[in-house]
Amino acid sequence: MPTDTFDLLPHAAPTTDAIREDILANPGFGQYFTDHMAHVRWTLNDGWHGHRVLPYGPLTLDPAAAVLHYAQEIFEGIKAYRHADGSIWTFRPEKNAERFRRSARRLALPELSDADFIGSIKALLAQDHPWVPTPKNEADECSLYLRPFMIASESFLGVRPSHEVDYYVIASPAAAYFKGGIEPVSIWLTEHYKRAAPGGTGFAKCGGNYASSLAAQKEASANGCGQVAFLDAVENKWIEELGGMNLFFVYKDGRIATPRLTDTILEGVTRDSVLTLARDEGLTPEERPISIDEWREGAANGEITEVFACGTAAVITPVGELVSEQERIRLAGDNGNPIAKRLRAKLLDLQYGRAEDTHGWLTRLV
Ligand code: COI
Repeated sequence: MPTDTFDLLPHAAPTTDAIREDILANPGFGQYFTDHMAHVRWTLNDGWHGHRVLPYGPLTLDPAAAVLHYAQEIFEGIKAYRHADGSIWTFRPEKNAERFRRSARRLALPELSDADFIGSIKALLAQDHPWVPTPKNEADECSLYLRPFMIASESFLGVRPSHEVDYYVIASPAAAYFKGGIEPVSIWLTEHYKRAAPGGTGFAKCGGNYASSLAAQKEASANGCGQVAFLDAVENKWIEELGGMNLFFVYKDGRIATPRLTDTILEGVTRDSVLTLARDEGLTPEERPISIDEWREGAANGEITEVFACGTAAVITPVGELVSEQERIRLAGDNGNPIAKRLRAKLLDLQYGRAEDTHGWLTRLV
């Protein structure tokens, strides 16, 4: 879908350069939004239509809109990066587009074509490219975080897939997701809650998964932790993922393991990229079940030398400790997380155009 198939309704009073520069100097995460948003509408009779870019602003939804009652909703997270020559790129958007289609199928929403998914991002960036921050140095992970999402907008209280759906992309300038940057985060292991069960929606990126993680996230915050870790719902034994990130374990013999994908784990684009970059670095990646006992024992006997979280928002962030009501699991030695740092630098160098894109992962937006 070329950019020009999106009709433009320009913002009448866009943010001034001075205010935007002020925001970009210290954007935080998810607090500020650009001047426009992309929108495509779907109806049962007409399919996808009405592609446009319009001023960012509140949506008008009927109080009976299905999404407000039955949470028929999906979203994505993807970033735009400014390179040193001013050009703007995104990272593996076809992976997000594919996952968005997979999520749509699970939530009984219509599938959006990859061309519309990537086209909507290009169309939005054609207007809002001044909002993509310029990194100050090689450790700076500032970007424009893009949030495509799809909602069931039909006014109808019967429980069935909506006959009317709206797709939007909004954009928010972003610095590091965790306030401490790449300082190791503490993770809370919840003993009361599960994120996903077999046959459920765990593999889909739907708002409901995140809503159901919030009570556990509240426990995490109350215990001084930045994220929550979930165990599987059947045996209460296998590590699945964090509230919004995948987990990796580095072993002293050069293996690097992450829980294998099941229908209860979200297939992260960063997770997949880390598996490839780890192999490039001479490490031995493994996707397999990893138990909480393995974490506990490997941390104590020094077999596990690093643990890190990864995701589009968090990039790669070392995990300092796992805390629960019963225990505190810390790695036997603190080696400064060299593998996490190396992989993180490799990933950022690729995303910001400082390293050759040997895997063909970048797509130019502007
Ligand atoms: C992402 O990394 O894009 C996420 O989805 C995590 C969170 C901000 C929802």
